[in-house]
Amino acid sequence: MIINETLRTLKQRRSIRSFRDEQIKEEELQAVLEAGLYAPNAGDQAWHFTVIQNKELLDRLNLAAKEGAKQLDIEGLEEMANNEQYNCLYGAPTLIIVSGKQAPIPLEADCAAATQNLLLAAESIGLGSCWIYFVIFAFYSPLGPELSKELKIPEGYKPYYSAVLGYKQDSVVNVPVRKPNLITYIR
Ligand SMILES: Cc1cc2nc3c(=O)[nH]c(=O)nc-3n(C[C@H](O)[C@H](O)[C@H](O)COP(=O)(O)O)c2cc1C
Repeated sequence: MIINETLRTLKQRRSIRSFRDEQIKEEELQAVLEAGLYAPNAGDQAWHFTVIQNKELLDRLNLAAKEGAKQLDIEGLEEMANNEQYNCLYGAPTLIIVSGKQAPIPLEADCAAATQNLLLAAESIGLGSCWIYFVIFAFYSPLGPELSKELKIPEGYKPYYSAVLGYKQDSVVNVPVRKPNLITYIR
């Protein structure tokens, strides 16, 4: 089996849901953002990254996301939204929201590729990260339009995904065994 630094990073990355309070370094943030900007894209880089490192705003986003989630009739979501202990951002000090331009071809896949790049770059420099969809529910809450303005989401762009970043609280993370029989070869 071939193994190199990139493959090791890909396999080591896990969703981290417990972070230290300390903010990540600016150079770490910039390295992660730069990686996001180099993701494959169909829309000629028609994405936008919003970095939020303000604790008060992160707390408000968590609450707004839970309000938004309550309004959607999706099984399991209501329980999370009503759980006061649940913080959809896990107390991470940095959140990056990835928005895509509203275009005839939706740019969700571009934003997903960029989000994955953020996570892999984070892992490669020793940061913890987690892909967070839940916080996007904030934009479905009554506060959505106001939040979009406050976050300076560009006109005509839709927040699709996000990633939280921070220093890992625990270094040992459970790695679920990979499922078998997920590949078909036709040769
Ligand atoms: C589209 C997408 C949305 C996700 N949203 C959330 C989320 O809102 N909250 C969360 O804790 N994890 C979220 N995750 C992370 C997954 O739960 C996680 O990747 C999965 O359990 C596999 O674990 P691993 O990342 O450690 O390999 C999301 C992942 C993807 C791809």
